[in-house]
Amino acid sequence: MTEQIIKKIKTVRPVNVTQLRRICKLKRMGSGAFRRAYSIIKTDAIVKFSFGADGISHTQDEIKNIRKIKTVKRFQRFKKYLPKIYYWDETYGVIIMEQIQMNVTEDQASKIKAKFEKMFPKGGFTDLHKRNVGRNKKGQIKVIDFGVIGGQE
Ligand SMILES: Nc1ncnc2c1ncn2[C@@H]1O[C@H](COP(=O)(O)OP(=O)(O)O)[C@@H](O)[C@H]1O
Ligand SMILES: [Mg+2]
Repeated sequence: MTEQIIKKIKTVRPVNVTQLRRICKLKRMGSGAFRRAYSIIKTDAIVKFSFGADGISHTQDEIKNIRKIKTVKRFQRFKKYLPKIYYWDETYGVIIMEQIQMNVTEDQASKIKAKFEKMFPKGGFTDLHKRNVGRNKKGQIKVIDFGVIGGQE
């Protein structure tokens, strides 16, 4: 079911909730400063729509970071924390990824943050707190917001 719905989304390329609701059923989930997430019913995916220009710009940063994680060697250390990514729209700031259980404590999140920052010897930066990290169905730690991540070599 997920594949079928994603295929449809890829042809329609919805840019907001109203347009996507014409294709599938959505359930409102969490939101942050830049995006609001909706679970796509009958799939294991979640869609994030951006708020305004700042939101789109944050999502564009996230997409750039995801691309780096997939292709640039020094970013591959983040790969195991990346949820499955199904779709993105760089112009309108839409991203669809695997739904993650947001059940990590603040304490666990700060440990993950410290670990990430250590990955860059000269200092790394992240935006890791418990609203940006969770677990997939297998219980593996996944970061759901890669808008701000990286560091110096
Ligand atoms: N893949 C996901 N699975 C489950 N919930 C998610 C997912 N992505 C986002 N969310 C929910 O939406 C909220 C906002 O998403 P996020 O990407 O952090 O946006 P922002 O850039 O506004 O912080 C998250 O804190 C979380 O509650
Ligand atoms: Mg966030």
